[in-house]
Amino acid sequence: EKGGHKHWMSKEIAEQPSVLADVLAHYLPGGQLTFPGDALDFTGIDRVVMVACGTGFYSCFVAKYWLETLARIPVEVDVASEFRYREPPLSERTLAIFVSQSGETADTLAAMRFAAGKCRIASVVNVAQSTIARESDLALPILAGREISVASTKAFTCQLMVLALMAIKAASDRGTLTQDALKGRIAALSSLPALVSQALAVGPQINDLAQELSEAHDILFLGRGAMYPLALEGALKLKELSYIHAEGYASGELKHGPIALIDSHVPVIVMAPSDALFDKTISNMQEVMARGGKVLLVTDAAGAEMAGHGCWGVIRMPEADPMFAPVLYAIPAQQIAYHTAIAKGTDVDQPRNLAKSVTVE
Ligand code: M6R
Repeated sequence: EKGGHKHWMSKEIAEQPSVLADVLAHYLPGGQLTFPGDALDFTGIDRVVMVACGTGFYSCFVAKYWLETLARIPVEVDVASEFRYREPPLSERTLAIFVSQSGETADTLAAMRFAAGKCRIASVVNVAQSTIARESDLALPILAGREISVASTKAFTCQLMVLALMAIKAASDRGTLTQDALKGRIAALSSLPALVSQALAVGPQINDLAQELSEAHDILFLGRGAMYPLALEGALKLKELSYIHAEGYASGELKHGPIALIDSHVPVIVMAPSDALFDKTISNMQEVMARGGKVLLVTDAAGAEMAGHGCWGVIRMPEADPMFAPVLYAIPAQQIAYHTAIAKGTDVDQPRNLAKSVTVE
């Protein structure tokens, strides 16, 4: 039933082109953006708060970049286990979005119940009959299909796709993008299933690097802009599966402390499409290399040409709209965790101490 795959995780990684296409078919039938109900009308909203745990939290964090840049709406993100303790002010002009694969995570549910009655509530869920879906004003399905491996993979990219479409809807409602710009962003999202499918081809190359990665005690992930939350997600996936200590940092933050960790034993994985921020990220990467750090650069062909020289490894990704690159670069992040875990001999689908659904606070 794993369809020839050794692990559920590898099957679920491989399914991403097809489930992402399902999300597009659902929310963009005939190329027309379609969201159910009027609860998702952004005209009367002046603030969005997004709440989730783990990988879902990183989806929210990526979406903050999209909603703020495209729709010019302020977005606050928080982990569910912290959200309600500071009694955040909420009003009827606030849209609170709760993101959960299972729809049963206790922290997220408690945060949602705190917000209930104070503001509008939408959820982005995989399990349509779940408690979180049932208790929200509007439940948006991510259509990823059943996710069995404890590590979230296809649910992450499907969450991102739904949230990206939501950001485009928000931009359209609020009139912050021209019709041409909206069309361009929709076209960019529509091209992602095919690009993700091409990105899956980097698996064997990552496999070749995995043995060396598996011998590290600490690994850093760097990203800038919307790639910063992806760096956090890459680090979470790696520590969850391989039990190697990993941290994600905003590239520019490295020099404010973490650079003290760098020596030849600490691999640094730089996730950087050749976008407007590329030069700055590359100068951060060079600071790492100057201190003997071993850099794995994940970039596109132009980025590899400009900055690949002297890196320990270069993973080449297809060209994509830099804004939506986190969807594409999620693939190497997942594969790095997967192959490193196999090289270490850990239990890929059922890592120690973890459960698929965390139903205690
Ligand atoms: O079902 P949920 O999306 O609410 O679960 C949230 C987290 O527990 C989950 O994303 C966890 O971090 C994953 N194991 C990460 O791979």
